[in-house]
Amino acid sequence: MPDALLDRIAAAEDLQALDNVRVELLGKSGEITAKLKSLGSMDADTRASEAPKIHALRERVTDAIAERKAALEAGELERKLATEKVDLSLPAREQATGSVHPVSQVMDELAEIFADLGFSVAEGPEIETQWYNFSALNMPENHPARAMQDTFYLEPRTPDEEPFVLRTHTSPVQIRAGESQGAPIYVIAPGRVYRSDSDATHTPMFHQVEGLVIDKAITLGHLKWTLETFVRAFFERDDIVMRFRPSYFPFTEPSAELDVGWSMEKGRRVVGGQEGWMEILGSGMVHPRVISNMGLDPDEWQGFAFGCGIDRLAMLKYGMDDLRAFFDGDIRWLKHYGFRALDVPTISGGVGA
Ligand code: PHE
Repeated sequence: MPDALLDRIAAAEDLQALDNVRVELLGKSGEITAKLKSLGSMDADTRASEAPKIHALRERVTDAIAERKAALEAGELERKLATEKVDLSLPAREQATGSVHPVSQVMDELAEIFADLGFSVAEGPEIETQWYNFSALNMPENHPARAMQDTFYLEPRTPDEEPFVLRTHTSPVQIRAGESQGAPIYVIAPGRVYRSDSDATHTPMFHQVEGLVIDKAITLGHLKWTLETFVRAFFERDDIVMRFRPSYFPFTEPSAELDVGWSMEKGRRVVGGQEGWMEILGSGMVHPRVISNMGLDPDEWQGFAFGCGIDRLAMLKYGMDDLRAFFDGDIRWLKHYGFRALDVPTISGGVGA
């Protein structure tokens, strides 16, 4: 093969130049194509001797171009690898924009406080049967207490299916915890609950934490001590006053609501001091019928339970005044009230952020 042709291929410095050479040689009106075409006008003898040479030449040129192309491509890759850099040690974004939602923060604080008292965290489904949400909790059908809670019922899938409900409180987890772990029980169950209600202090979905203790010889005194310890640890103030007010829940007997004293600070109500009372949770000694429904013998086991709104706890501790903002997903609100991911509550470091 003539060196001149090889030189031209070797001289192509990039893929574009190489393609130009390819067109010059092998394209429709390329030099080698012209040679091939000239075969037609040759006499038979010349053609017999020239044809193999021209075909061989075309083959070698084709090979040389392919080789050069591979070399140029490899060079191109080398060059890219050498010049383009990705620094994997750089943070993905210069500044993280997300933060921990106050509800999550308070749930972490509750888990920390109660873990310190020997409680573990239990869970239950948000779509619940009427048995777990009502009947097992001593609220049989037509019990007026069912009307106390504005329940969301799911559309039954068959005409005779009893409609499921969106759980109206975390209390059904009491029954589920009893059934699944037996006694003794020391659990809290934080989670979402649903009621058909909406204004500045009510949203159709909100959060509660349930507490349940079942053991032998548990008394109202244990309930009182546990709640006082919890409220003091949560609000982290020394001037907290509390009072138990008799109340009614079908699943506890006796029942009591816990009020804490509040005072005005910089124009807003804070927990601590004694300018007035506000209710923060419901509680009581677990009704014997409820203990039976857990599959336990009420003559052997007693206990207490409480239920508390988590969003309200967050509002009181961190100073928000409209509950609806909790669920708007507004990044500015989150920036203002959110917590850094590394603000992990610990008893020793103070549970608050
Ligand atoms: N489930 C009750 C409510 O949602 C709260 C509660 C829980 C009261 C446990 C007593 C015992 O209002």
